[in-house]
Amino acid sequence: MACPENMFFLIGLFMSGVLACFGKRDLIATMPDRLDVLTGSCVQIPCAFYIPDQNDYKFNSTILTSGVWLKGSTKFGEGQDNVRFHSSKTVNRYQGNITGNMSQKNCTTVFFNVTTSYSDKYFFRIESQPFRATDPDKSVNIDVRDLPPSPIITVSGEVKEGTPVSLNCSAVAPCPEHPPELTWTLPTQFTPENQLQENPDQTKSILSTVTFTLSYLHHEKNITCTAVYPVGTSNKTAEHTMMLNVSFSPKDTLASISPAGPVLVGSCVNLTCSSTANPPVTNFTWFQISGGKPTQEASGQSYTLNVTVGDGGLYYCEARNSHGRGKSEEEKLAIKGKTGTLGTILD
Ligand SMILES: *[C@@H]1O[C@H](CO)[C@@H](O)[C@H](O)[C@H]1NC(C)=O
Ligand SMILES: *[C@@H]1O[C@H](CO)[C@@H](O)[C@H](O)[C@H]1NC(C)=O
Ligand SMILES: *[C@@H]1O[C@H](CO)[C@@H](O)[C@H](O)[C@H]1NC(C)=O
Ligand SMILES: *[C@@H]1O[C@H](CO)[C@@H](O)[C@H](O)[C@H]1NC(C)=O
Ligand SMILES: *[C@@H]1O[C@H](CO)[C@@H](O)[C@H](O)[C@H]1NC(C)=O
Ligand SMILES: *[C@@H]1O[C@H](CO)[C@@H](O)[C@H](O)[C@H]1NC(C)=O
Ligand SMILES: *[C@@H]1O[C@H](CO)[C@@H](O)[C@H](O)[C@H]1NC(C)=O
Ligand SMILES: *[C@@H]1O[C@H](CO)[C@@H](O)[C@H](O)[C@H]1NC(C)=O
Ligand SMILES: *[C@@H]1O[C@H](CO)[C@@H](O)[C@H](O)[C@H]1NC(C)=O
Ligand SMILES: *[C@@H]1O[C@H](CO)[C@@H](O)[C@H](O)[C@H]1NC(C)=O
Ligand SMILES: *[C@@H]1O[C@H](CO)[C@@H](O)[C@H](O)[C@H]1NC(C)=O
Ligand SMILES: *[C@@H]1O[C@H](CO)[C@@H](O)[C@H](O)[C@H]1NC(C)=O
Repeated sequence: MACPENMFFLIGLFMSGVLACFGKRDLIATMPDRLDVLTGSCVQIPCAFYIPDQNDYKFNSTILTSGVWLKGSTKFGEGQDNVRFHSSKTVNRYQGNITGNMSQKNCTTVFFNVTTSYSDKYFFRIESQPFRATDPDKSVNIDVRDLPPSPIITVSGEVKEGTPVSLNCSAVAPCPEHPPELTWTLPTQFTPENQLQENPDQTKSILSTVTFTLSYLHHEKNITCTAVYPVGTSNKTAEHTMMLNVSFSPKDTLASISPAGPVLVGSCVNLTCSSTANPPVTNFTWFQISGGKPTQEASGQSYTLNVTVGDGGLYYCEARNSHGRGKSEEEKLAIKGKTGTLGTILD
């Protein structure tokens, strides 16, 4: 269906295509939009370039092509002060290396010993014979900080007792030669699996995965993932803590009768049921054992009984939530001065 909105969208695409065709973009570089980097560490800029059709013939891969990184603006040449790295120069403002193979249009670059003054946007330029060009429309924003960003924990599957849960912790690795080390603090035993991952924008991350079976005892326990980044001879640490919210059927269900001792016929006793559950108990039901079989007596967390002769005996309660039910032990309601029937005692 071609809705009006879609038509406008298509026209928009067509227009931008036309603009790209007639625009002055002699070089098209691909690199991430931004990179978060640690001071003192290195940064790898994943980079590739291609030369649009009208100029591609000018690129001769057998001729040495130099890569140039420009800080803050695309200006290049006499009187310009924004060249930070030029791969054919032996002395550069930045210590770095183009590790990609430029003949294969791979301009992946590493800068070492990064400082906060490196924070800026950077443009890429190639210099070869006879072709020289800068991509003015693409830059990478390098953000240098003293502390690493927190790793990110994600949880898959239902967080429910008895089911396996899978946790991922992911931490950026802007300097893949010195990736962070990830460790977990969990309320159970576990075996982590760690790997270096490539993100869709070609940046790298370390991913650590753990899987374990949940128990209601894990409810409201904290889990922590810690990323330790080696920087020079020291380490920089960042962590992420989250509390587990495990859903479980009612546990520790307890029936209590008050007063506890034998009672007189005609007096009041309270029966109260308690239980822990997540989500909370929605339904308490009371049963009396009569004739050896449980009979439902009441619903509600507690109820009051004006005692009659037939009320003596064993009671229990049942708590329910959406995950199941929990049953209490049986409690005895004893009646003063009556003998002979179940649950009564001699005065
Ligand atoms: C590329 O450069 C080499 C060496 O200068 C030259 O021999 C070759 O003819 C060039 N190729 C093209 C397609 O221009
Ligand atoms: C630059 O990187 C290349 C490819 O990884 C490597 O062979 C070369 O030794 C590096 N040069 C410097 C100065 O680090
Ligand atoms: C580009 O070079 C880098 C560094 O050598 C390498 O890790 C990456 O895989 C290369 N990219 C492609 C697309 O070949
Ligand atoms: C770079 O790529 C070219 C062309 O594919 C290849 O001939 C050359 O050996 C590569 N250089 C390195 C250092 O891998
Ligand atoms: C980084 O700088 C320190 C001191 O300034 C120097 O010792 C070290 O060799 C440098 N590292 C790299 C990879 O250039
Ligand atoms: C963990 O990462 C793996 C690999 O990227 C992915 O397949 C899985 O869905 C992720 N799980 C969670 C809980 O995010
Ligand atoms: C769990 O983490 C929170 C937030 O980080 C913290 O306030 C709380 O004290 C922790 N609880 C336990 C039991 O460690
Ligand atoms: C840095 O952390 C690693 C583990 O990630 C540890 O082995 C090393 O001793 C730590 N170094 C310092 C200086 O704390
Ligand atoms: C219990 O019921 C009896 C008979 O209906 C009544 O006389 C008595 O007052 C009631 N006791 C209480 C404590 O309500
Ligand atoms: C029973 O519960 C009611 C209301 O919760 C309270 O007023 C009463 O004193 C309790 N009776 C006994 C015997 O615990
Ligand atoms: C924990 O889970 C329960 C049940 O799924 C839900 O009702 C409750 O809102 C959750 N609590 C928090 C703090 O997320
Ligand atoms: C609680 O459970 C009992 C027993 O199945 C049922 O009779 C009663 O209607 C339920 N009450 C509610 C409020 O769901």
